[in-house]
Amino acid sequence: MAVLGMGYVGLPTSLALREAGFRVLGVDISERRLRHIEAGSVDLLDRDRPRLTRALESGQFGLTTDLRALEAVDAVLIAVPTPVDHDLNPDLRAVRSACASAVEHARAGQTLILTSTTYVGTTRDLLVEPLRERGFTIGEDIHVAFAPERINPGDALWEQAAVPRVIGGVTSACTDAAAAVLAATASKLHVVSSVEAAEFTKLQENTFRAVNLAFANEMAAAAGFYGVDPVEVIDAAATKPYGYLPHYPGPGVGGHCIPVDPYYLLTPLRDAGVASPVVENAMASVAGRPRSVADRALDITGSRGIADANARVLLVGVAYKPGVEDFRESPALQIAGRLAARGAQVSYHDPLIAEVEVEGAGVLHNVAAPDPSQYDLVLVAVVHPGHSYEYLADAEHLLDATYKTSGGKVRHAL
Ligand SMILES: NC(=O)c1ccc[n+]([C@@H]2O[C@H](COP(=O)([O-])OP(=O)(O)OC[C@H]3O[C@@H](n4cnc5c(N)ncnc54)[C@H](O)[C@@H]3O)[C@@H](O)[C@H]2O)c1
Repeated sequence: MAVLGMGYVGLPTSLALREAGFRVLGVDISERRLRHIEAGSVDLLDRDRPRLTRALESGQFGLTTDLRALEAVDAVLIAVPTPVDHDLNPDLRAVRSACASAVEHARAGQTLILTSTTYVGTTRDLLVEPLRERGFTIGEDIHVAFAPERINPGDALWEQAAVPRVIGGVTSACTDAAAAVLAATASKLHVVSSVEAAEFTKLQENTFRAVNLAFANEMAAAAGFYGVDPVEVIDAAATKPYGYLPHYPGPGVGGHCIPVDPYYLLTPLRDAGVASPVVENAMASVAGRPRSVADRALDITGSRGIADANARVLLVGVAYKPGVEDFRESPALQIAGRLAARGAQVSYHDPLIAEVEVEGAGVLHNVAAPDPSQYDLVLVAVVHPGHSYEYLADAEHLLDATYKTSGGKVRHAL
């Protein structure tokens, strides 16, 4: 079988299929990505590293940029990126071109499974209709399904195989064919009645999370108004065994999924004139959070008579979430950019990241052992487990956007 798109999702999926005994072909348009996989220089969970070595040594794991190779396989899983553009509209170029490749090289007897997070209707628009135009009868001579990916890179607890997989086929024969492939990648399969239901499930999950994170930030501000610790309250509410799911406030939402995926729901709904005010407002709040954290930081320094241009801010953590070296789509970097745009002098401490480029401030280098007395404000955005942040205790003024640290002589609320 083939996996089309060998990124954060496609590679571990290929390794799971290979471990289950399938012959696997990894297909990608990026020669560079494939060379990195061959060399083992890719981000993977510790448990996937020996799987990659075994796969590469097995002679049953091929890597190619030749899309014609898709004709030889029995199943194709499509796992290409689905980002948004600068205006936060879905950027469908990769999924369009990958589906067009799968359709062009499809042959009777194959199973095609789309796994990328995308708008409801993609599977029909980009696979089902073009395959029909090529003369295929879906569910008879070719099978098509959508099965959203739920992998959480860097999460060893909820590894891919431990998480149930949702599948929706065009017909029940399509669902069965897809299930036969995906059983190897998941502990449990959950079948829904249509490809649209499967597509919507992924948008429901990630929009749920985005809305709840926006809510958590808003409630943290309300708790601050009442002089109550928001985390104490969330932990207390979470003792209720039903009807409540804890979400914690923070400096913003990073990564490629939560701040992005809801636009695959919102944009088509907007185009159709369907109102979604809760999601709209939540996403505006998510997008605006880093800026409001940065502005709050400079309100604090400003209220002490320090002009923005003289404000020295130490930003603690620039990764997009705790425990990772990845700083793409990091809210902390957006905070740094906003601070720099207002003229403040920004330094950062992140034990996992040696240097970063901040818009308006150029390349910054990690301050390995910060002296808090050198800064007018210490702004905590990300703390990594297993690292010491004892210096925070000596910070004169501290704004903790993680709500998790205890340092600072004067602690300011967001
Ligand atoms: N990364 C995650 O945490 C995660 C989790 C769940 C779901 N998803 C979803 O899975 C999908 C894939 O995400 P990802 O993080 O693996 O992306 P990625 O950017 O890591 O990798 C995608 C790969 O696809 C390749 N590619 C792009 N266009 C292609 C084409 N036309 N044909 C063949 N290959 C092509 C790229 O070269 C790249 O190697 C997205 O829809 C994403 O939303 C991602």
